[in-house]
Amino acid sequence: MIRPLVIGGKTYPNNLIQGPLAGLSCAPFRRLTWQFSQPAFSCTEMISCKTLLHSPLSLQQRFVKIDPQEGPVCFQLSSNNPAELAEATKRVTEYGAHIINLNCGCPVKKIRSKGAGSSLLTNPTQLYQLITAMKQNTHLPVSVKIRVEGNSSDKFNAEVARVVSDAGADFLVVHGRHWTEHYETPCSHDDIRFFVETLKIPVIGNGDISCLSSLKMMLDTGCAGIMIGRAGVGQPWLIKQLIAEFQGEHFIKPSSYIIRDSFVGHVKDLAILLNNEKFSVLQARKFAKYYARSLENKVEFCAEMNLCETLTSLESIAFRYFHSSIT
Ligand SMILES: Cc1cc2nc3c(=O)[nH]c(=O)nc-3n(C[C@H](O)[C@H](O)[C@H](O)COP(=O)(O)O)c2cc1C
Repeated sequence: MIRPLVIGGKTYPNNLIQGPLAGLSCAPFRRLTWQFSQPAFSCTEMISCKTLLHSPLSLQQRFVKIDPQEGPVCFQLSSNNPAELAEATKRVTEYGAHIINLNCGCPVKKIRSKGAGSSLLTNPTQLYQLITAMKQNTHLPVSVKIRVEGNSSDKFNAEVARVVSDAGADFLVVHGRHWTEHYETPCSHDDIRFFVETLKIPVIGNGDISCLSSLKMMLDTGCAGIMIGRAGVGQPWLIKQLIAEFQGEHFIKPSSYIIRDSFVGHVKDLAILLNNEKFSVLQARKFAKYYARSLENKVEFCAEMNLCETLTSLESIAFRYFHSSIT
């Protein structure tokens, strides 16, 4: 069901969440999502606790800045060291986080080789210590985002569920894929259902939600809420649309002009946040494809974007492509 989400004693009006996406989930993206959709909350991208604690604040704006015009923010931290995570937890609590999440799902080699991300799932003692370190250093709700063992391996998943619950996490986000699985492998709803049925704390289901039928499939697991990742990029109204369609209402999608202005606004705000026009345009090359989803000539648009280096030329490309060619 789409319904209010209660976490750590606070009630959010709905149970749809915009998830963490590295390279994307900074304040401009989250503000856009809030402006169109008002999700329960949006997540920051994964922030290394070392970066948070040791690099100058001026270089961290991308990770820590909260826009006054955005909704509740969940800060996602990455670490394998309880003392470091404890300090980082205090720090993001001071910065205005509403919720704190520990990344236990990242499949990237660089992160796993440091003993963080998804590698924590096979180290229950350390996982317990990390969650406890977070709980003891903030009054905010604390959560964990995991991947699953896959093939409905209840034994492994049961151990992770036990640790998360014993350590006192307020909720759990489950991305229904194993860390070795790529996006071509469908998300396992059975594994998510296992966590829902095993745990007393709210479980948020994540993976492959992009339309009403995929939303319903995830809600059928009995999860307390759902997290949207990739599908929220380039269509910041998606959560609003899903809520409306779930309630049987007709949702009118924004025009191509609104998509264009959202894209250009997103990149301009990023340039201000990063204080770096060129870097923001280079970042935009990576997410332009999401805004171009419904363009007839998206291949050409992305090819032009890949050569683009300034905001002026990005704006002019966007104005040429986003007119009436939306299908
Ligand atoms: C480009 C990209 C960056 C991501 N960055 C993060 C991240 O920083 N932290 C995290 O927990 N998950 C991250 N994820 C995983 C997503 O949050 C989500 O779990 C996954 O994409 C499945 O959801 P979806 O099918 O709705 O996209 C990332 C995924 C993508 C595609």
